[in-house]
Amino acid sequence: MGSTRMIVISRPDLVEKVWGPASLKNTKFIFRTSHSEGIDEIGLGTKGIVFNRNIDVWAINRRFMNIISIPPFLRESINLSNKVIDQVFEYWKTLENEGMQIDICEWLDAVGADIVSTTATGKSIASATKLFNSLDIENKKSIHGIWENGVKFIQAIHLHVESVAFMFLIPTMFRRNIPFIKDINKKYLDNKDWIYEELERIISEKQKEIENTPLSQPLESNILTLLLTTNTERDLDKISVGHFESPLTKDEVISIICEVFTSGLDTTSSSLSFIIFYLARHRDVYLKMRQEILNVYGTLNNPVLILESYGKLKYIEAVIYESIRILPTTSSIPRAATEDIEFDGFTIKADTTVHLDIFALNHNPKYFKDPETFNPDRFLTDKDSITKYAYIPFGNGVRACPGRSWAMVQMKTFLIKLVCTFDIYSNDKSDTPKYVYRAVNRPINIYINVKTRNG
Ligand code: HEM
Repeated sequence: MGSTRMIVISRPDLVEKVWGPASLKNTKFIFRTSHSEGIDEIGLGTKGIVFNRNIDVWAINRRFMNIISIPPFLRESINLSNKVIDQVFEYWKTLENEGMQIDICEWLDAVGADIVSTTATGKSIASATKLFNSLDIENKKSIHGIWENGVKFIQAIHLHVESVAFMFLIPTMFRRNIPFIKDINKKYLDNKDWIYEELERIISEKQKEIENTPLSQPLESNILTLLLTTNTERDLDKISVGHFESPLTKDEVISIICEVFTSGLDTTSSSLSFIIFYLARHRDVYLKMRQEILNVYGTLNNPVLILESYGKLKYIEAVIYESIRILPTTSSIPRAATEDIEFDGFTIKADTTVHLDIFALNHNPKYFKDPETFNPDRFLTDKDSITKYAYIPFGNGVRACPGRSWAMVQMKTFLIKLVCTFDIYSNDKSDTPKYVYRAVNRPINIYINVKTRNG
């Protein structure tokens, strides 16, 4: 790729060598990618989690990021998702009455932005309401008390994510000197600076809020408050992340919050868009999901969603797995080794990026019978026949996705509520969703019609 050597693998036995080891001691593939000046310039090579090559700093940040997989956090997330989705479904009922189609990608981006923003910072950006108000409908909704720069911030995050491939692949000399490329480079770097300044502003505001709240009063529950209070007298023991001697620095907080946005937004909302694409074409699957909800909750009318019940939703889980198998949002995962390695008869030089081609693996008939057929049952009845390491949508080992549980909880919450509230249809009969190939694939032009369920 350009001037950078990359090795692409798509065999489970090789996947095991890279993604199998579960501890830092046993694995040589500790880095996300080979060293890149561009990634350093954009602030990711030595900070945060995803691309961080400073393993000591990565390990600390990762411990903090792990709060997004513990039950108290997931329970809060269900409550918040519930509120956001209820409001969105009220808007969809208006669209149904107006006979309007629903642009799933736009709506799920808005839902994702509202959930991630409130969970990460406690700040609402009302993306879904803004989207509703932008449609050709008379009954506009009022918006108040929101994060003024919220929408601009989300757009900046999308640009930041987009900049990673450019910064990684285009050699520094080109980025700095060639007209046009130089301008793009500047746009990406200015964008990163703006994100960091905006986060710094929000952190200062939140810090004042915390200082002005008496110790006897509980604080809001969001990731930012949690990060700012850990190892201070305000430490919320509600979500404990273990023992660290000092509070996180402002820089560390910025990097972690930034990554909650960069990693948490498109991954979940794009996966959900793909899932809904398949559901609108497989009514039998939709009805089976409805039956499962009825079996687990005893009702389809506003079932009480508690975390403990989610493990019982095996069919819904299989639907999610099958959708992200057939169309994985992250269709390629990179890792790089810290030293030279003997690998399937070759020597891979230290710091060479090895990519797992998830798409190729998930579509190989050796590992998935009739791979082009959408068949959630393969994750239920044929589950045990799936070759080990042939299916790792969230990665595996030391750098496996820390957002997996949160993403699954968000997707399940949305799907349960969707299935209980609406029937869905699509006029478009194509078998495969359209999308733009990216580090996180972006679905486009997925439209459905909804009809409120009777009874
Ligand atoms: C459907 C949704 C998602 C999918 C398919 C997904 C997939 C992945 C994959 C494949 C990796 C690479 C793992 C490896 O190298 O072994 C990863 C890493 C990561 N994911 Fe996710 N992810 C999703 C949602 C999320 C969410 C909601 C967050 C929340 C913040 C998140 C945060 C991260 C982070 C921080 C890493 C880097 C971990 C490290 O390098 O230590 N992801 N994800």
